[in-house]
Amino acid sequence: MSNVVSYELVGNIGVISVNSPPVNALSQAVREGILNTVNAAAEDASEAVVLRCEGRTFIAGADITEFGKPPMEPGLPEVLSAIENSKKPVIAAIHGTALGGGFEVALACHYRCAIASAKVGLPEVKLGLLPGAGGTQRVPRLAGVEAALDMITTGNPVAAAKANSMGLIDEVVEGDDLQAAAIKYASDLVASGAPLKRVRDITIDASTIEPGFFDAARKKLALRARGQIAPDKIVSCIEAAVNLLMDEGLERERELFRELVTSPESAAMRHIFFAERQAAKIKDLPKDTPLRDIKKVAIIGGGTMGGGIAMCFANVGIPVVMVEINDEALARGMKIIRKNYTITVAKGKLPADKMEQLISTITGTTDYADLGDVDLVIEAVFENLELKKEIFAKLDAVCKPGAILATNTSYQDVDAIAAATNRPQDVLGLHFFSPANVMKLLEIVRGEKTADDALATSMQIGKKIGKVCALSRVCYGFIGNRMLGGYGREAQMLLMDGCTPAQVDSALEKFGMAMGPLAMGDLAGLDVGYKAREGRTDLPDDPKLYRMGTLLVEMGRHGQKTGSGFYKYDPETRRRLSDPEVESMIKEEAAKLNLEQRDISDEEILQRCLYPLINEGALILEEGIAQRPSDIDVVYVFGYAFPAAKGGPMHYADQIGLKNVYDKICEFRERDGEMYWKPAPLLEKLAKEGKTFAEWGSENG
Ligand code: 3HC
Ligand code: NAI
Repeated sequence: MSNVVSYELVGNIGVISVNSPPVNALSQAVREGILNTVNAAAEDASEAVVLRCEGRTFIAGADITEFGKPPMEPGLPEVLSAIENSKKPVIAAIHGTALGGGFEVALACHYRCAIASAKVGLPEVKLGLLPGAGGTQRVPRLAGVEAALDMITTGNPVAAAKANSMGLIDEVVEGDDLQAAAIKYASDLVASGAPLKRVRDITIDASTIEPGFFDAARKKLALRARGQIAPDKIVSCIEAAVNLLMDEGLERERELFRELVTSPESAAMRHIFFAERQAAKIKDLPKDTPLRDIKKVAIIGGGTMGGGIAMCFANVGIPVVMVEINDEALARGMKIIRKNYTITVAKGKLPADKMEQLISTITGTTDYADLGDVDLVIEAVFENLELKKEIFAKLDAVCKPGAILATNTSYQDVDAIAAATNRPQDVLGLHFFSPANVMKLLEIVRGEKTADDALATSMQIGKKIGKVCALSRVCYGFIGNRMLGGYGREAQMLLMDGCTPAQVDSALEKFGMAMGPLAMGDLAGLDVGYKAREGRTDLPDDPKLYRMGTLLVEMGRHGQKTGSGFYKYDPETRRRLSDPEVESMIKEEAAKLNLEQRDISDEEILQRCLYPLINEGALILEEGIAQRPSDIDVVYVFGYAFPAAKGGPMHYADQIGLKNVYDKICEFRERDGEMYWKPAPLLEKLAKEGKTFAEWGSENG
């Protein structure tokens, strides 16, 4: 018996209990423990065996920390085959989440029961992998090819009731005492002489699959999961489940799993998995930092951001009071919230009655005096420092002691805002991304005087509303927007040097960005950048700089909202279309400035747009704005749709080699001048020492 897996006989039922916190992952010890206990059960008086877990969840998958290390016996397939070939029925009893290898263990059992709150899923695709222990062979046998393809290529978990209706679990048991319910279920199976149901014995009728089904699936996934290689291989495995015998299918699955587990895409996605969890930890905060109670939230400003932020809290049942300047603005804000929820209802993702209930948790006011009982305020008014200071002074006057006062500002100085109050220890930035109810990232901005418990509480509440949080110190644009400067600049410079907008965007989209930088500018509004540049005195005096962005705004082409920007937009479909007018204008402007236009490779486009991100990231690290390189990766993957399969800009830089990045930046400096290309001292140092950002990160704690 191992110390992570135990076994006892309860009447005529053998009970295997896995107890390996935090999530009962299938480490070597767990695999060995299950194998030994299944073998022990074969020899004793038990008539059936229940496999269950202690703690917060059923087995949540393979132990991801073991990937990339030499394999250790027993392998998971050996464990599953012992379960499947047991002469006594083995019943998986599921609570929490049975994920990945954990669900595959359950699928190898003869029966599966679960409590109603349980979920099952195969999330391997989110780690750049495919289920490597029979998931791709057993799920289509139980749930059908189409459902399997959807479940495995999205990686989304399925709730117990739905899993039951799909045939993935046999019984949803009542109540919370799973062990007792599972033992009873097992005893009933024994009493009724239920057969040993092995999923492998089910055959899929290949004639039911439409010709061309798998090719169509591959095409669709190539568009949806750009830059990822796992989805295509998942299709191959499911195809194998249809066309090959079980053991051949398992062999094919294993072979493709091995290819993926050693791929750079999976390494990058595993990096992001751990980076996301690491980012939630604030280095200098003790684990037992007390938390403040957040029972009610106020949002100041019900515009684009305020409405979305209000929805985040309403969604988790926290009442929100939204403050606006007048009733009309309040009604406008509430209307947008209703519209957003209506879209979710129309997509079938929210029942209509639940929508009304959610909306009813958001109330409105125009009177700051109504904020006396709130525990957290998030200000999201216009981006104007004086206005924000004025509002924080008012909040200081009306809010109860200990209320956290946060600003959603994108660029303003959080310390200056805090100084407008007599309680700077309660002030910090909570920087959401647009649309706030959808985007996963939340930058938590730590002011000079922000108290530890205000920060710890913000991290906790961020997780509660489903955000991925990353800590930033105060600087212009914090981590994400500050890094964006050079990215957007080079995208426009490339036009002057000979690219079309479509060429720039498509190079970055092929790399895996959800949307290229110029199309993104059109979406956000070119006037936003134009206005932001107006007040800046630090920009080089260079007629090439942002020339097209500026001219387009002056022509009234503000992007999607005016129907045209770098592109024109089909009024019906809103599809972006290349605009010959813009393309000839680019040529004319370059000619006016005597610039020689040339052919530019996709490689150069990537280097010129992505290396400024890396360089600014290095500055951000040296200045202590970000806690660690991996936090920057989290910001970019969850806030700016940087491809997870590339691991974020800092991980990507480590993969290319910092010396290569540094040398290229020096080469660009020679050509375009130091005003645009100035290698960060940290980048230069690491490049010369032959080190990576990851190594620097671990050395710096
Ligand atoms: N392996 C190793 N460590 C894991 C792990 C895993 N599969 N899953 C979670 N952990 C660790 C986390 O890194 C974290 O560590 P930390 O406390 O040191 O930061 C700790 O467990 C707790 O995790 P969370 O903070 O994520 O806890 P939550 O309660 O929020 O979520 C969960 C629990 C839903 C199980 C979530 O952790 C999760 O989604 N885990 C990954 C599941 C997964 O991807 N499984 C598939 C693995 S690949 C596989 O199985 C291949 C197979 O087909 C052969
Ligand atoms: P918005 O213009 O859509 O909304 C601002 C709202 O604040 C308006 O409805 C206005 O009536 C209200 N308001 C103004 N003064 C007020 C006052 N004294 N009291 C109460 N309400 C008041 O602006 P948006 O886009 O929502 O931005 C808000 C903040 O969020 C800004 O600081 C912005 O920089 C930041 N932000 C914006 C993002 C975006 O993509 N729009 C992304 C992340 C942050």
